[in-house]
Amino acid sequence: MSYVIRKAALSDLNAALQLDREAFGVDAWTFLDYMGVFSIRSVKKFSAEDDGQFAGFAAMEFDHRKRAACLMTLAVRPEFRNRGIGAGLLHTCEAAFPGKNYYLNVDEANKAAIRLYEREGYRQTGTEPGYYLNGHNAIIMEK
Ligand SMILES: CC(C)(COP(=O)(O)OP(=O)(O)OC[C@H]1O[C@@H](n2cnc3c(N)ncnc32)[C@H](O)[C@@H]1OP(=O)(O)O)[C@@H](O)C(=O)NCCC(=O)NCCS
Repeated sequence: MSYVIRKAALSDLNAALQLDREAFGVDAWTFLDYMGVFSIRSVKKFSAEDDGQFAGFAAMEFDHRKRAACLMTLAVRPEFRNRGIGAGLLHTCEAAFPGKNYYLNVDEANKAAIRLYEREGYRQTGTEPGYYLNGHNAIIMEK
């Protein structure tokens, strides 16, 4: 393991936004969304770095209505995937909300992410038809 996971800094905003666009296409968040993520203190955000390069990003916030911490986003740059960074970012987010329940939405077609979440103990608890702008349904997973 050569990567490190650290609290995200404002200087990561552009790299996180770029990664989001590459990873999520029409469903990517906007610059303003990312301004929110980086300025709202209750959102815990982390960056992965490998050899000084930005490798991935994740953010989690506690949802008081659902009484569970919500994984808002998780993405790893393609050249850094399959090395445990996605799982590492997820573990770090969960550790920021110790002892809580966790949930997330994932595109039903996103097999790599679903496999990761299942391996990490998340289970499907529902669906949101047509949730994504690409027309796909979301799967709701909880842990
Ligand atoms: C989903 C995503 C975050 C996973 O990130 P990742 O860093 O590749 O995740 P991990 O490395 O922890 O796990 C992926 C695979 O690598 C394997 N792996 C983990 N560490 C490894 C290592 N050291 N050596 C070899 N393989 C390893 C895992 O077993 C896993 O294999 P499997 O999925 O075939 O069972 C990444 O694919 C991504 O950014 N996708 C686009 C954005 C996205 O879909 N995000 C999720 C939105 S809900």
